[in-house]
Amino acid sequence: MSEKNVSMAVVRRLPKYYRYLGDLMDRDVKRISSKELSDIIGFTASQIRQDLNNFGGFGQQGYGYNVEELHFEISKILGLTKQYKCIIIGAGNLGQALANYTNFNKSGYEVKALFDINPKLFGIKIRDIEIYDMDYIHKFIKEDLIDIAMICTSKDSAQGIADKLVAAGIEAIWNFAPTDLKVPDNVLVENVHLVESLLTLTYLYNTKDNK
Ligand code: NAI
Repeated sequence: MSEKNVSMAVVRRLPKYYRYLGDLMDRDVKRISSKELSDIIGFTASQIRQDLNNFGGFGQQGYGYNVEELHFEISKILGLTKQYKCIIIGAGNLGQALANYTNFNKSGYEVKALFDINPKLFGIKIRDIEIYDMDYIHKFIKEDLIDIAMICTSKDSAQGIADKLVAAGIEAIWNFAPTDLKVPDNVLVENVHLVESLLTLTYLYNTKDNK
């Protein structure tokens, strides 16, 4: 099967495999059976085998999976063997928190700049990442060949920003603004809505058996 045909459900599980395998490597675990992996991750062993079979398998009968090898293979599948240049739009609480998050660098995401419309913020650096005037964003994206843009502004401004990003050639947007963006078919938007997750938790909390 070509990787193009892999279902979104599988794609959404890959980061979890990657994270758990990374944890196992930190604990110096060298190999693991699909049953053991299943106990830790919470997917069935057959689900894990099926998921990984989409990409060629990797396990060996009677041996299980070589943790480091599988972690590396999944990192290749996810595209983590490359570096990605990123920018953050909106240098407020969230934008600055993302810029301060040093683990992005370790995973290959380099935040090159923040952009904002508040002149008081221009020139300020978060770690060594400078906040620029939105007026320069088009030129910056073109010259620095930016791959990923992270929107951390209010929902009212998010669509206008997305339009500017698309006009400058951005094809991958990580959207934190609580709104659904309209973009051309060639542009990917991944929404992150912490509040939706909190609402789900609240629902489950209120419908628990003992409530
Ligand atoms: P904030 O008010 O601290 O920062 C927003 C920044 O965006 C400000 O510096 C403002 O000057 C800038 N801005 C406004 N319009 C702009 C434009 N057109 N172009 C460039 N910059 C512009 O807000 P905060 O707390 O950082 O939240 C930002 C957004 O992230 C909000 O929409 C909030 O709802 C959302 N949010 C989303 C979360 C999630 O899970 N997705 C979690 C927390 C916040």
